[in-house]
Amino acid sequence: MVVVLAVNGRRYEAAGVEPSMTLLEFLRTQTPVRGPKLGCGEGGCGACVVLVSKYDPATDEVTEFSASSCLTLLGSVDRCSVITSEGIGNSKDGFHASQCGFCTPGMCMSIFSALVKADKAADRPAPPAGFSKLTTTEAEKAISGNLCRCTGYRPIVDACKSFAADVDLEDLGLNCFWKKGSEPAEVGKLPGYNSGAVCTFPEFLKSEIKASVQQASDVPVPVSEDGWYRPKSIDELNMLFESNSFEGDSVKIVASNTGSGVYKDQDLHDKYIDIKGIPELSVINRSSKGIELGSVVSLSKAIDALSDGNMVFRKIADHLNKVASPFVRNTATIGGNIIMAQRLQLPSDIATVLLAAGSTVTIQEASKRLCYTLEEFLQHPPCNSRTLLLSIFIPDWGSDGITFETFRAAPRPFGNAVSYVNSAFFARSSGGGLIEDICLAFGAYGVDHAIRARKVEDFLKGKLVTSSIIFEAVQLLKAISPSEGTTHAEYRISLAVSFLFTFLSSLANSLNETTKINVPNGSIQHSPEEHLKVDSNDLPIRSRQEMIFADEYKPVGEAVYVDDIPPPKDCLYGAFIYSTHPYAHVKGINFKTSLASKKVITVITANDIPSSGQNIGSSFPKMGEEPLFADTIAEFAGQNIGVVIAETQKYAYMAAKQAVVEYSTEKLQPPILTIEDAIQRNSYFPVPPFLAPKPVGDYNQGMSEADHTIISAEVKLESHYYFYMETQVALAIPDEDNCITIYSSTQIPEITQNVVARCLGIPFHNVRLITRRVGGGFGGKALKGIHVACACAVAAFKLQRPVRMYLDRKTDMIMAGGRHPMKVKYSVGFKSDGKITALHLDLGINAGISLDVSPVMPRDIIGALKKYNWGNLAFDTKLCKTNISSKSAMRAPGDMQGSFIAEAITEHVASVLSVDTNTIRRKNLHDHKSLIVFYVESAGEASTYSLVTVFDKLASSPDYERRASVVEHFNDNNKWRKRGISCVPITYEVRLRPTPGKVSIMNDGSIAVEVGGVEMGQGLWTKVKQMTAFGLGELCADGGDCLLNKVRVIQPDTLSMIQGGFTGGSTTSETSCEAVRLSCAALVERLKPIKENLEAKAGTVEWGALIAQASMASVNLSAHAYWTPDPSFTSYLNYGAAISEVEIDVLTGATTILRSDLVYDCGQSLNPAVDLGQVEGAFVQGVGFFTNEEYTTNSDGIVINDGTWTYKIPTVDTIPKQFNVELINSARDQKRVLSSKASGEPPLLLACSVHCAMREAIRAARKEFSVCTDPANSIDTFQMDVPATMPVVKELCGLDVVESNFAMNISSKIACACAIAAFKLRRPVKMYLDRKTDMIMAGGRHLVKVKYSVGFKSDGKITALHLDLGINAGISPDASPVMPHAIIGLFVAEAIIEHVASVLSVDANTIRKKNLHDFKSLAVSIMNDGSIAVEVGGIEIGQGLWTKVKQMAAFGLGQLCHDCGECPMDKVWVIQADTLSMIQGGMTAGSTTSETSCEAVRKSCAVLVERLKPYQGESGSKCQPCGMECLDCKGEEILQTLSLSAIMVSVNLSAQAYWTPDPSFTSYLNYGAAISEVEVDVLTGATTILRSDLVYDCGQSLNLAVDLGQIEGSFFQGVGFFTNEDYATNSDGLVINDGTWTYKIPTVDTIPKQFNVEIFNSARDLKRVLSSKASGEPPLVLASSVHCAMREAIRAARKEFSVCNGPANSTAIFQMDVPATMPVVKELCSLDVVERYLESISAAGSNTAKA
Ligand SMILES: Cc1cc2nc3c(=O)[nH]c(=O)nc-3n(C[C@H](O)[C@H](O)[C@H](O)COP(=O)(O)OP(=O)(O)OC[C@H]3O[C@@H](n4cnc5c(N)ncnc54)[C@H](O)[C@@H]3O)c2cc1C
Ligand code: FES
Ligand code: FES
Repeated sequence: MVVVLAVNGRRYEAAGVEPSMTLLEFLRTQTPVRGPKLGCGEGGCGACVVLVSKYDPATDEVTEFSASSCLTLLGSVDRCSVITSEGIGNSKDGFHASQCGFCTPGMCMSIFSALVKADKAADRPAPPAGFSKLTTTEAEKAISGNLCRCTGYRPIVDACKSFAADVDLEDLGLNCFWKKGSEPAEVGKLPGYNSGAVCTFPEFLKSEIKASVQQASDVPVPVSEDGWYRPKSIDELNMLFESNSFEGDSVKIVASNTGSGVYKDQDLHDKYIDIKGIPELSVINRSSKGIELGSVVSLSKAIDALSDGNMVFRKIADHLNKVASPFVRNTATIGGNIIMAQRLQLPSDIATVLLAAGSTVTIQEASKRLCYTLEEFLQHPPCNSRTLLLSIFIPDWGSDGITFETFRAAPRPFGNAVSYVNSAFFARSSGGGLIEDICLAFGAYGVDHAIRARKVEDFLKGKLVTSSIIFEAVQLLKAISPSEGTTHAEYRISLAVSFLFTFLSSLANSLNETTKINVPNGSIQHSPEEHLKVDSNDLPIRSRQEMIFADEYKPVGEAVYVDDIPPPKDCLYGAFIYSTHPYAHVKGINFKTSLASKKVITVITANDIPSSGQNIGSSFPKMGEEPLFADTIAEFAGQNIGVVIAETQKYAYMAAKQAVVEYSTEKLQPPILTIEDAIQRNSYFPVPPFLAPKPVGDYNQGMSEADHTIISAEVKLESHYYFYMETQVALAIPDEDNCITIYSSTQIPEITQNVVARCLGIPFHNVRLITRRVGGGFGGKALKGIHVACACAVAAFKLQRPVRMYLDRKTDMIMAGGRHPMKVKYSVGFKSDGKITALHLDLGINAGISLDVSPVMPRDIIGALKKYNWGNLAFDTKLCKTNISSKSAMRAPGDMQGSFIAEAITEHVASVLSVDTNTIRRKNLHDHKSLIVFYVESAGEASTYSLVTVFDKLASSPDYERRASVVEHFNDNNKWRKRGISCVPITYEVRLRPTPGKVSIMNDGSIAVEVGGVEMGQGLWTKVKQMTAFGLGELCADGGDCLLNKVRVIQPDTLSMIQGGFTGGSTTSETSCEAVRLSCAALVERLKPIKENLEAKAGTVEWGALIAQASMASVNLSAHAYWTPDPSFTSYLNYGAAISEVEIDVLTGATTILRSDLVYDCGQSLNPAVDLGQVEGAFVQGVGFFTNEEYTTNSDGIVINDGTWTYKIPTVDTIPKQFNVELINSARDQKRVLSSKASGEPPLLLACSVHCAMREAIRAARKEFSVCTDPANSIDTFQMDVPATMPVVKELCGLDVVESNFAMNISSKIACACAIAAFKLRRPVKMYLDRKTDMIMAGGRHLVKVKYSVGFKSDGKITALHLDLGINAGISPDASPVMPHAIIGLFVAEAIIEHVASVLSVDANTIRKKNLHDFKSLAVSIMNDGSIAVEVGGIEIGQGLWTKVKQMAAFGLGQLCHDCGECPMDKVWVIQADTLSMIQGGMTAGSTTSETSCEAVRKSCAVLVERLKPYQGESGSKCQPCGMECLDCKGEEILQTLSLSAIMVSVNLSAQAYWTPDPSFTSYLNYGAAISEVEVDVLTGATTILRSDLVYDCGQSLNLAVDLGQIEGSFFQGVGFFTNEDYATNSDGLVINDGTWTYKIPTVDTIPKQFNVEIFNSARDLKRVLSSKASGEPPLVLASSVHCAMREAIRAARKEFSVCNGPANSTAIFQMDVPATMPVVKELCSLDVVERYLESISAAGSNTAKA
């Protein structure tokens, strides 16, 4: 095939290239372009993004779009122009926002493409000069699909926004670094943007295209031999199919080939049919009936077309905008998506939304054209490879009565993440609000393809949406289960429910104004804002605060990474074959019969290691070694078995996939995969004593001092993958004399060199290892990189040809290992005030197969955990050896987990004590004294301990309090979204290591610097440059500023700079700087005399002149230093704290980080800009670990989330919406390098604040929905493991929140339970709780603890009272918010009165006297027979409601028989409450139901009387029952006659009233008093109530007998409460007095022996219902007279036996809680009265004797 294209304006003609060649492969191997990188090869990272431009000769228009070159096939860009990052700038221009820089060229192209697109928008106003038409929001979205693992995105977003016309300087974090001196930052200083400066389509190509169009017009495309076919019509395509050249699997029909990013090619293809050249497939036809989209229309074009349409089209467009990323959408076709959904079960968003919109598809099968509904098409068996999708038609539904919504839940809102579940709902409703038609489509639901929930649809059709309808719909939906094996099945079901609920709720509200259902609120919009504060006073290198762009080649792609090095002649490529078995003999490697297998040149295995060498793949001094190849036995899934060698990297990748390894597990034990397995089989690695952490204090002693303990709580942390953007890579070039040169992307060149030499069996000096640049390391390019270097070396050595290996992302993920997973059990003791006294940890660490650097893990875990003063600390560590890939150091290894564990513990303690976690954190922060105890070697001076200050600055600020209360307010007002805020402190111990440095001054004055450290994005070279200029500054008049541009830091080369050690542990920059400073000092010493000499002769000496002179004088201009730390100062502590505020979506489990504020103590920062970048980048990486990066493994221990499709690192749309970082400069400490501090790893720990804030938000949700799975998982106390992904969050919030929203209280729960069961079983279901279950579930009266402070005069007049009310409300708010109001005036008042009386030694009644202070829905219906039916909202529960209502109905209707009212009395029938007949029934409680119901009856009767009165005259007789002379009365038949007459004229005989109280009289007071007299048995504590006299004001009682019954009954209930009903619970809060055996209510023998009740009728008050008063509840309070009387009796007993146990518990003054049971009474009377008595008699006896 011949492809002609322009790359950066230059013409390329690719002839004879393979049809499977991607654009990326072409660019990187056949042109000098290196900007586009291979980061994933699956469209998921953006590293390969380029701008593709197409020219249409017909319109003379150029269309530009960004595309992922890794998926774009070269053949499809024939006659296109491609611009790479090199084409838009060069090393002198460009922008700077990178760290390792690997992602940056791709980022540049994404933003450049957005700029080009925005500037073409004719409808936008012209931007100011130097800016584009792009908006800042578009700038941010433009890079939403690009990944960066280093920066935290902020600087990149800033750089992108700086081009936008609406940029706000305050919004950019750049400004603080611009300010030089007094110069202000100004918009005008931003790097200018020049629209149109880059020619996207060269003229020569336009001309070529025009010419070729004229020539080729009607010539059919021949069936060519080169494998690339581009038919121009469907007929041509059919011709191709019929030509017999297209049999077999090697043919691939492609549109844009993005599908290969989702379903990776498993073999090479030698024939491709590109269908994009068929014009019919590109149509976009609009008509009044709808839109037809040709199948090869790109998603971006479809979005543009649909955005212009009606509401349904626009919503589809909105949804499509969330699919993939801009650079994928620009090429990915709508047809490709639908075909993958149909054929391959792609969890497609597009199929779902189009299904809901009632779309149809047209397909071509052989010569037939068929039209199906999308639903039918999806249900067909997977279509064959010759089925051609022609077009999709979306009907126009108009907007009348149409509702359409789409939903998706994905780990990232915009940035390229496939959804857990997606759905789209369509409804058409009638004017009356009934659903006429509905379509409910769900995708990614674990079923084979998008489906319609037909049963639910059928159910909903013709219905009016109400709560109960939604509830039933939800139950029906839940019957659709995801297919077996679907991950997170329960979560997906709950998402589907959530989406349906959200849709139906809003539908109900929009259709029916009166049904207001709490609709889940929409997503919050926050304008991202970043504020960066750098306290730059007093920095050591003050004039050097601006970022120095040491590596200005990165953004434009000129920087050379290992894979960018042009291939040496005869270069071969390798790819690993890894074991897929965790523990098995490897019997042999074979290859499938396939195209790719033919590409295998050889396979390198352990047998190819030279005889003098060793099978070694990694090693670390004093730690472990790992073999390079599995030799006979593969010990873990992912182990290297061999390396396939091929001519190209792609061939090697594809060939490795063809390997079939033969395994045998004969005579082998089963593998050890988990910590539990290892513990069971005693499989551990030892931890050398010098690395073992030391316990602190005496744990047992600490536990004995504790008031509370938590025993053996458990928390788990998963692994974490490095996700450096550049995967592992090495290039080995054999050299003369048994030598080899290796280019390796490694953090440890020295160790890599050593291991390679040992592996090859050659002296170390025969191996030159060069590390030019590392595209991100994070610990993963330390030991794990050695394997790749060794494998290349062995292959190169054997084949004597250069060999390069650049791992594909999947292999890299599987082999790399990552962070150690762990399981931790903790037991902690603490005081009631929150002070922790002891902590014990059982650490189970899964180290994997080899030791690696795992022995440091316990020390590092404990190191970070010790940020709190645990009082006494003990631990038991198990470093488990398992058959999984070896876990290695990952940024902040161990420390990350340790810090998190500490927070899990403080949170647990706080929840047990029901206090804010910050209180516990603050309480347990070290003072300097305890710091020294816990960090014996690294505590440092007191002045350097800044953590308390930092924490207080954040957590104790008024701003924090304000924000916390705003969060609380938000949570009170939002049911479906909850927020949480948390502040987390960190302490991080770093260690200093010896480091070399060398500074050499060339004859022209330019300076070359070498350091042992490797630049991998951490700003090492920037700092080293600065330090060199600073170190030599003494020799320059300007202090060294002039030297900055003269310094060049050169790549580490293990033969030039030995003892380079390793780059890791955060201290490489500072130690390298120190080595450079020492070297500079040596040079200064040598050059100073010459300078002075010259100055003496000629005044000021220029740098160049000085060096020239020195050179002439043969001064050694190169100095080398090897810095070693002061043995007394080898480690120090770093401090910081962060507040994060998050919002969780309770329905989906999605988390939005609203804001993060970081304060980090950077010491005297060497370069705040670099440190800031480190802090931000580390934090964001940490956020990934704590939230979304799910390292899921299969049952063989192999990671299955093995690519960008499933492993989700943070993107620009998941970082905090507002991100504030403040670097503080703590006190100087000259022992540290220029008083600076580390910044690379510690800030990672700050991300824990996000996890903690999430937990707070979840707690709020659990409170809202009363989520409590078991005692260990209560509302407040629950564990949230790491990572807290969406499914985890949702599960903790309650997978069934929607359902539980329908079931709010216990009776409705029972009703719901019955309804669900009946619904499922289709049989009636009754539930009648047994006594025990009822008691356990019912809850009951609130437990109350009251503290009071009371002031009073000597005469007993109380002058002031303050109460602290502690009310145990239990799990849910229920009606608890009214409790504070209800409690005051009950028992508490009496307790206080008694207390006052006892202090004053007066009678309590004196105190009482001294301090006395100066009121539904109902219907009445008269039946045809004159009988009356009355319905009331209230329920008869024994309070006499029905009696009163009957009376009132008779009374109300009595007017019809001259007010006698008696006649109807026995005709009245009060009927049972029925919620469908009598709505708004409210509740029966609060004592006023009877009177309000009566009032409603009276009103209804009044209505009936008014209607019936006109018919009274038609009859006429005496009223029989009452004997009164009724004018027209016909005795008992009166009502019947009346109603009959009324019926004749159709009078409504039913009246309903809904009574509402007069707003000025919604409450009134009830009064009463009681005298009780009791007798207490001092010996047993038994109480007998001798008599109780009650006087209760019942107003004008409606029914004296009923009221009397109420008063008596409630008094007895009260007596039970105050005396005998002991509601004892166990330690889990479960009631244990759970039956009649133990829970003793009053019986006939415990009521007062004499009981007098007087009902008192106070003055009339017509505002009250017929002047009546309540009688149901108030008399309960009168029972406190019994409690008071008991106290009097007890007081007498205490006097008798002189009982006094402390000043607060004197003879007269003591507290008696409720209930005062026999043991309580006995205790207060004293348990030892008998002994006391005997003592007193014997004393009296002896006195008498003495006398
Ligand atoms: C990084 C990434 C993220 C993604 N995220 C999402 C997402 O969130 N939601 C979602 O729904 N999708 C997502 N996708 C899928 C994406 O939408 C599809 O890859 C794309 O639409 C396929 O179009 P294409 O032109 O590239 O198809 P191709 O890759 O060219 O073809 C795919 C398959 O369809 C066949 N085919 C293509 N067109 C036709 C036709 N007209 N007739 C018959 N057969 C045909 C091909 O033979 C091939 O088998 C994502 C893809 C990537 C790479
Ligand atoms: S390499 Fe192309 S998107 Fe990652
Ligand atoms: S700078 Fe973005 S990945 Fe390193």
